Amino acid sequence: MDALTAIRSRRTIKAFTGAALPRAQVEALVDAACWAPNHRLAQPWRFRLLDQPAIARLGGFLQATPAIAAVPDPHKGAAKLAKLLERLGSLGALVMVGWERAADPAIDLEDHAAAAAAVQNLCLAATAAGLGSFWSTNPALSHPLTLGWCGLDPARQGFLGAIWLGTPAESPAPPPRKAVTDVAGWV
Ligand SMILES: Cc1cc2nc3c(=O)[nH]c(=O)nc-3n(C[C@H](O)[C@H](O)[C@H](O)COP(=O)(O)O)c2cc1C
Repeated sequence: MDALTAIRSRRTIKAFTGAALPRAQVEALVDAACWAPNHRLAQPWRFRLLDQPAIARLGGFLQATPAIAAVPDPHKGAAKLAKLLERLGSLGALVMVGWERAADPAIDLEDHAAAAAAVQNLCLAATAAGLGSFWSTNPALSHPLTLGWCGLDPARQGFLGAIWLGTPAESPAPPPRKAVTDVAGWV
């Protein structure tokens, strides 16, 4: 698949067949992520990889941790968590992405940008491999306790998102994009 086809056909996929992704395939996607541009060769991205057994253990942790089960709405928390757990059960793998925070705000902003580019690389590589991906900042998955459980350190690492991966069980229509003339102008 050529780059432009991957860029245009990548869609946010939230429904998966339940087929497992081999660890080697997930690692190949992370390798593609690591070819993103990054200033000072900081390579600030950090990845925590969850195969299906780890995703199941994560689900157990989320359920057993009231501070997480209640986010973002203490009243609807249980229902939202049940929906999340159901969806997580269909994933082939999950990749949690963080970046190493820099003390200098300008460098930190650049490192965040580099890590975001790495996420897009990962999602495009997944598309090219016929896989679905979903860049999620779900509050339960973004919770500092969840990050710590996954092996990220919220004290010194920021969080880009949880990247859901798997065999797509849906093919959503592309959401609209603004015209180039609405977002770009020649100087
Ligand atoms: C940083 C970031 C966080 C996102 N978090 C969520 C999320 O928590 N829930 C969600 O439904 N979509 C989330 N999305 C996906 C967007 O909703 C999606 O990209 C957008 O609807 C466009 O659809 P497309 O990805 O198929 O082009 C996120 C996207 C980005 C870049």
